[in-house]
Amino acid sequence: MSNDVKIGLVGFGMRARSLTKVAHRPGLGAVVSDVFDIDQDAARNAGQELGFPVTAHATLEALLAADIDAVLIVTPDHLHVEHSIAALRAGLAVYLEKPMAISAEQCDQILDEARRSRGRLYLGHNMRHMPFVRAMKEIIDSGAIGEPKVAWCRHFVGHGGDYYFRDWHADRRFSSGLLFQKGAHDIDILHWLMGSYSSRVAAMGQLMVYGDNPRRSVEDVETPWRLDDNPLSAWPPAALRELNPVVDVEDSSMVIMTLDNGTMASYQQCHFSPDYWRSYTIIGTEGRIENIGDVEEGTVINVWNKRHYGYEPADLVVPVHPEPGGHGGADARIMDEFLGFARSGGPVETSPIAARYAVAAAEAATQSLRSGGEPRQVPPARQEDVSYFAD
Ligand SMILES: NC(=O)c1ccc[n+]([C@@H]2O[C@H](COP(=O)([O-])OP(=O)(O)OC[C@H]3O[C@@H](n4cnc5c(N)ncnc54)[C@H](O)[C@@H]3O)[C@@H](O)[C@H]2O)c1
Repeated sequence: MSNDVKIGLVGFGMRARSLTKVAHRPGLGAVVSDVFDIDQDAARNAGQELGFPVTAHATLEALLAADIDAVLIVTPDHLHVEHSIAALRAGLAVYLEKPMAISAEQCDQILDEARRSRGRLYLGHNMRHMPFVRAMKEIIDSGAIGEPKVAWCRHFVGHGGDYYFRDWHADRRFSSGLLFQKGAHDIDILHWLMGSYSSRVAAMGQLMVYGDNPRRSVEDVETPWRLDDNPLSAWPPAALRELNPVVDVEDSSMVIMTLDNGTMASYQQCHFSPDYWRSYTIIGTEGRIENIGDVEEGTVINVWNKRHYGYEPADLVVPVHPEPGGHGGADARIMDEFLGFARSGGPVETSPIAARYAVAAAEAATQSLRSGGEPRQVPPARQEDVSYFAD
């Protein structure tokens, strides 16, 4: 008899399709067997598109009552709170995509429900499984740069216009802002590498480029946009057409953070850069590291830990080898981890409390940038939730 974890998809959009590639492995641990999407046609056609049988359900309740063990919640961000609480109440193991939700208050509601129901809540922060991030963490943890003190992340979102300004992401009602949607990844990594959470943040940001591009009409917005056949031909960013009818999120933001342990970090995000990658540098008491490339072959981590007079090649160059399976191998690895967790619990690399702090810092930064850059406190998580997840 098969021991496969039976998985239901809540939402059948872009992320559901990419996660299904790594989750569906009949006879080898998991099958994607059921789906619910508000777009009933998308749900009904899922099996045909995927090439294996998938039962489509007409309501979320019907999906949660089906013969499944776990769900992947891959709906727009503003629905995460409602969908994850319903799935936890149904007693299912929950893989919840980042950002955990679109406010710290919503995250706390999810954490409370998981604690009360002793639910299995897992956060899909796949960047923690990216080989370049893991290599940076190993180098820092080895003491090669002394004590980490300052971290900077520059996020060049080269396909920002295509991915984040053509649908619900561009509308604050659904994403709150792109410091949540995209920044939650990197704020989580900055916290993880520095071993602490943000307590105070300030930010500035603007909608600088995508405010004037032609938009779809409200009537057209039900028709999902398709990435152009050759997205690279849409250049410069002003050439992009068919943006979301509502565009009220920033396309460029800069955040500075002080962390509880006295370290500092900054995060810069720009959605009209020609290239798409992230550059981190961490400066410690005895050195500095920096990645060149992130999920491509040829990525390296440069380590300088001797004194130099000017720019000189790194003292140590650590090559990083991306793996197959999406996001440099992170998607395959995070799904392996989630399936083990769904089966038997146990320690994992991602953290619901950390995911909550990424949202709380993004929220405080977004409030700061929308009110003149005043510093904001990041509200701490509730002690009972912290203790529950520490266990
Ligand atoms: N970790 C990653 O690398 C990564 C990458 C991409 C997206 N994501 C996350 O995955 C989530 C989904 O993003 P996406 O790009 O797939 O979005 P998408 O718009 O492509 O898909 C969302 C799907 O949810 C469906 N939906 C909307 N309202 C619904 C409802 N009330 N009930 C059920 N289904 C509903 C839509 O019809 C659509 O099919 C987001 O939270 C996003 O942040 C994570």
